[in-house]
Amino acid sequence: MKTVHTLEDVRWITDDWRRAGETVAVVPTMGALHAGHMSLVEAARSWADRVIVWIFVNPKQFDNPDDLEKYPRHMDRDATMLARAGVDLLYAPRLEEVYPAGFSTRVSVAGVSEGLCGAGRPGHFDGVATVVTKIFTQTRPDRAYFGQKDFQQLQVVSRLVRDLDLGVEIIGCPTVREADGLALSSRNERLTEDERRKAPALYRALCRAAEALREGAHVAETLAEARLEIVSAGFASVEYLELRAENGLAPLDRLSEPARLLAAAHIGAVRLIDNVPVTP
Ligand code: PAJ
Repeated sequence: MKTVHTLEDVRWITDDWRRAGETVAVVPTMGALHAGHMSLVEAARSWADRVIVWIFVNPKQFDNPDDLEKYPRHMDRDATMLARAGVDLLYAPRLEEVYPAGFSTRVSVAGVSEGLCGAGRPGHFDGVATVVTKIFTQTRPDRAYFGQKDFQQLQVVSRLVRDLDLGVEIIGCPTVREADGLALSSRNERLTEDERRKAPALYRALCRAAEALREGAHVAETLAEARLEIVSAGFASVEYLELRAENGLAPLDRLSEPARLLAAAHIGAVRLIDNVPVTP
């Protein structure tokens, strides 16, 4: 595996691949890799001739400087994992390679960015859409792999690619979980032992609510019960818990089409998100 830090090096390597007629997939990440990220790498490997992993802790998508500063960074360990997984190129750009002096463009996707994580984290999805546009223009992949763990992000990126004709096929991969159901996340590292024990309650509540909705339970009542269940299990607060259309994320007050239950909740100093599908 080659590791590079500049756009010039990436272009030089990927131009060669393209001339040879090889397909290229990119897996965008912010590093501190875990089995969730590695499942995207696996999926990319099984399809593409060449796989690029992007690692960049993108300051534009953090609304809180403390969260940016505390974001885990394990570059050496990440590089070892990626080399073992058969990745061709690790691209870890420097800040000025992504946002050169004077950078003044913002990519903003309306609609799917609003509400849910967009409400609690102002500017977050503009930061994501801006960096993802840069990832695609810098690496020019045929395909890009994202996790359903960040379901709203996946919708934002899919809309962005369609709206701007970016010509990248977006693949959404299932959420990888711990044995007790907790979705893998770089933020789990920040849970205390006690919080870690309580954290799977979020997924359990989502699954129970999804099951009830499938059986015809009232939406508002079911969501209120799930909120209570999460707080009783030891979470400090539930930021949102909503039923949205799987396709386009419109709010639903009845299970009239394939849907997702999405939630964000705070435990100790950590904010966790998760979601599950709900099919009528
Ligand atoms: P990051 O949080 O590092 O996640 C990188 C990718 O891994 C995302 O597509 C995310 O959905 C996926 N992922 C995270 N946890 C997962 C899990 N448990 N199972 C499956 N996939 C999982 O998401 C970002 O970085 C950034 O916003 C980024 C897209 C890189 C732009 O900066």
